Amino acid sequence: MKGLILSGGRGTRLRPITYTSAKQLVPVANKPVLFYGIEAMVEAGIRDIGIVVGDTQAEIRAAVGDGSAWGVRVQYIEQDAPRGLAHAVLISRDYIGDDPFVMYLGDNLLNKGIKPFVDEFLRERPAAQILLARVPDPQMFGVAELLNGHVKRLVEKPKEPQSDLALVGVYLFGSEVFDSVRRIKPSFRNELEITDAIQDLIDRGLTVRPHIVDGWWKDTGKLEDMLEANRLILETLDRRVEGQVDGASRIEGKVVIEPDAVIERSVVRGPAIIGARARIVHSYVGPYSAIMNDVEIRDTEIEHSIVLEGSVIHDLASRIEDSLIGKNVKIYRLPVKPSAYRFMLGDNSEVGIRW
Ligand code: TTP
Repeated sequence: MKGLILSGGRGTRLRPITYTSAKQLVPVANKPVLFYGIEAMVEAGIRDIGIVVGDTQAEIRAAVGDGSAWGVRVQYIEQDAPRGLAHAVLISRDYIGDDPFVMYLGDNLLNKGIKPFVDEFLRERPAAQILLARVPDPQMFGVAELLNGHVKRLVEKPKEPQSDLALVGVYLFGSEVFDSVRRIKPSFRNELEITDAIQDLIDRGLTVRPHIVDGWWKDTGKLEDMLEANRLILETLDRRVEGQVDGASRIEGKVVIEPDAVIERSVVRGPAIIGARARIVHSYVGPYSAIMNDVEIRDTEIEHSIVLEGSVIHDLASRIEDSLIGKNVKIYRLPVKPSAYRFMLGDNSEVGIRW
């Protein structure tokens, strides 16, 4: 069994972060989303992982390396453009060979991992097995219709859904899928769709098994979901305070403070994580905040937010909430007149200001 993690794509829904960074490396509870996928594979017994990469490959190669940090062998498969999930399968043919494989979307998170899903596939050996979750809004997803315990039909974003079972970003395939990805044609958005490839397997009379997900899953492809994933993971952390906390500060509840972080005259209320060498001075860091390494927060209140490496936030009049702040961002109050907002924002940035 091999693993295939998809870490190319456009990431349009997470702009401007994705102009400069891979969305799969945005940290959830201070760990890149992609690492959770690698760990899920390791736990399921997979030791060979192919990572499909696109424009952001340098950053992904630098973060994951040869996989030895996890005790696995990683190879990179270059996709010339985001031509669809089934295209990613097509170009991975040589790497996969005749092995069955688990395909995992690099921006997805599953709290219970994939081991039961992989074990069931190896026991039953269908042509494919798909992971499904019940959702309240199936018209937003690829939806599976079941019959006698098998998948009968897949419909992409149905207007009138016949089922509430949405496809989660993890799939298991035998090598039968390679014929299907070769047979299908690009969709209206000009991508080779994995749902079409799976439908082709069904149409060829091969077995596609459903597996309903146990626990939660999240696609972190957009801001609200990224914040929600951050919330869910922070809930699972145990308290660990290694940085320096002065006598005038309070650390409440499930809080991780990494080595060499400094907390002065501040309140940190968990669940929250403060990265290595971060400085929190005369500030409030509230629940569901993940503050990365080397961030400085001074005279500011923040909660339910993610702040990436090296950013500096000083002296804000209102609390920051529900925010994703990129690397090396500076937000501060200017002491000079005329009092005005002064911005230098990248394309597609979004700023909400208190009325
Ligand atoms: P998506 O989130 O569906 O697509 P995207 O990354 O292009 O994002 P957006 O819709 O915001 O523009 O992709 C799911 C995962 O698969 C993600 O980790 C990127 C990866 N992917 C590839 O590696 N190659 C591809 O051709 C596509 C479409 C996605």
